[in-house]
Amino acid sequence: MQRALDFDKTPALGVPLPFFLNVPVFGLLAGLLATWSDPQAFMSRWDRATLAMTHLWTLGILGSAMLGALIQILAVACNVAVTPARAVAATVHALLTVGTLALVTGFLWWAPPAWLAAVALLGAAFAIYLGAVSLALWRQRRQVYKGAREILVPVRGALAALALTVLIGLSMAGALGAGTALPGWAGGHILWGLLGWGGLLLMGMSFQLLPIFQLTEIYPKSVTRWLPLLIPGLLVAWTALDASTGLPHLMRETVELLLAGAYVSWIGTSLHRLGTRKRPTAEPTTLFWFTGLICLLACAPAWIWLRHGQAPQAAMVLGVLLIVGGLGSIVHGMLYKIVPFLLWKHAQDARVIPDHDPAQARIYLKILPKMAAYIPAAAGQWHVALYALVAVSWTLAATGWAPAAQAAGPLMILASSVLIVNLGRALMLYRRTLKILADMAEKTQP
Ligand code: HEM
Repeated sequence: MQRALDFDKTPALGVPLPFFLNVPVFGLLAGLLATWSDPQAFMSRWDRATLAMTHLWTLGILGSAMLGALIQILAVACNVAVTPARAVAATVHALLTVGTLALVTGFLWWAPPAWLAAVALLGAAFAIYLGAVSLALWRQRRQVYKGAREILVPVRGALAALALTVLIGLSMAGALGAGTALPGWAGGHILWGLLGWGGLLLMGMSFQLLPIFQLTEIYPKSVTRWLPLLIPGLLVAWTALDASTGLPHLMRETVELLLAGAYVSWIGTSLHRLGTRKRPTAEPTTLFWFTGLICLLACAPAWIWLRHGQAPQAAMVLGVLLIVGGLGSIVHGMLYKIVPFLLWKHAQDARVIPDHDPAQARIYLKILPKMAAYIPAAAGQWHVALYALVAVSWTLAATGWAPAAQAAGPLMILASSVLIVNLGRALMLYRRTLKILADMAEKTQP
């Protein structure tokens, strides 16, 4: 494992930050939609509002955060810099944001022109992103840090899964735009999107980030070496079985069982690592990781319920546990680590601290806020508590419990508002610090 991150390779603030700021904005939209749509939206997978809400989550919240975080992690953990970072990030961010809104419009109003616009915008966004990242991985393959392999294998798998998810998604949206449908393709789209792209990326991040930031033991070699290879293999087997006709369902279900087993072993190891971490305080990121992993663990019984019960709600419960409870929690938790770090780092870099004048250097160090000052722990903990309520209420709403369906939207609005306040205050502190530093530099100029 790469035991340290090379923070000098951090890309400019404007590269990942806009992606991260999408999280509360799309969170707010998901909350508003859940508040104003019929409670049916939590009951039927194919309701218009459900499909719209799903993509506010998977593209607007999870997708934005993961695309932004990946550019950052590749640079500092693997020495792979996406270039030209600013241009790629700005273009992808704009296309992804508008494209997601177009897709959501398409679902809500069942509007072919919106689907076609979404296909063009999202197709361009992902083509540019995947092209730029793949090129960077290829060109800089010889300078990759030793020990970064553990992160690169799952990252490559996640990117391939993203490409497949997007291709299937674009085909389905294009078909809807042309007035037809490809209903048999949805299973592959969902599986590659959630267990391939989402699952593998978080797994890769956990191998690197939990030991460094939570001071956990490193993951066992058996987990880091084999799971990132086994999971894509199982996804390929599942896809082949799903596409074949005449084979017993049991074969596909056996592959699903193995997939569940692979993920449960990662979740179990991660929970154990977090439980025995050396960092005694549970900061917001730690609590988000716990919430996310517990929700992911709960997906196993939900999957058994889906396959062996006849309840139509099982698929919704499984989807909500995975997207909102599992992936959503962990992605929110990452923001509480990455955003304060980025602001702290860029504030430091904004001025070179003079080393020839110790008195002056002390003044600079006093002015520069500590990393923990950007988002105070208590503010983050409020958000974790609210977000846990979001995960519970959305899951209960998916079981068909009407009071939970009524609470789900407002709780999400509240949680996203808290995140907006927390991130907004951090950004204001950053701007204030830059201004003070600039004023000081002006005054000390001869
Ligand atoms: C270019 C991006 C994408 C497009 C154009 C797209 C398009 C679609 C379409 C058209 C459907 C409806 C299928 C049907 O009616 O049969 C769908 C369903 C779904 N998509 Fe996507 N998608 C995209 C990205 C993603 C990603 C990245 C994920 C997950 C990480 C995802 C997760 C899902 C899920 C879970 C469903 C099923 C919703 C449900 O069961 O209620 N999509 N997508």
